Amino acid sequence: MQAVFRNAMSRLGSPVVLVTTDGPAGRHGLTVSAITSVTDTPPTVLVCLNRSNQSHRAFLENGRLGISILGKGHDTLACAFANSTLSSTDRFGHGTWQTGPLGSPLLDGALATLDCTIDDTHSIGTHDVLICRVHTITVKDGAGHGLTWFDRSFHYLPPKCTPC
Ligand SMILES: Cc1cc2nc3c(=O)[nH]c(=O)nc-3n(C[C@H](O)[C@H](O)[C@H](O)COP(=O)(O)O)c2cc1C
Repeated sequence: MQAVFRNAMSRLGSPVVLVTTDGPAGRHGLTVSAITSVTDTPPTVLVCLNRSNQSHRAFLENGRLGISILGKGHDTLACAFANSTLSSTDRFGHGTWQTGPLGSPLLDGALATLDCTIDDTHSIGTHDVLICRVHTITVKDGAGHGLTWFDRSFHYLPPKCTPC
């Protein structure tokens, strides 16, 4: 069941973001595709993090996280932040970073950034679902081509087709 579940999920195109934190538990970041909007009132997203991640405890202890939505040209960055053999310093050596108002690193050139507090968590199986309240948002002019994870590879989104 686990293998066929993973195969099925590989056919579900996902966003690609960098999720970052900084604070008393240190600066950490990783590539994440399990992220979705929950509600715009109050602005809330959920992020699913594997509890076996090296950075997991730091996110919960810092109680805050930054989300940088990736686009065209960010695939190398996404690979670096998914590489568990790279230190935090080496990962953040890729890209140019600003510090958000709540203290989390936010990527220059991201399609949008969200500065959040972690307001609640729910454990399911291997992962924690983090309920994140969004406090500050930046949106880059022009969406360009988004980056997506589909069939276990990165893809750039093509130009618009039928608008709904
Ligand atoms: C496209 C892509 C999406 C990923 N999505 C997630 C995710 O949603 N949640 C998660 O915990 N790990 C996800 N990962 C794996 C982490 O990025 C990877 O395990 C990372 O090395 C964890 O860092 P850490 O152990 O230093 O905390 C993803 C990796 C890739 C390449």
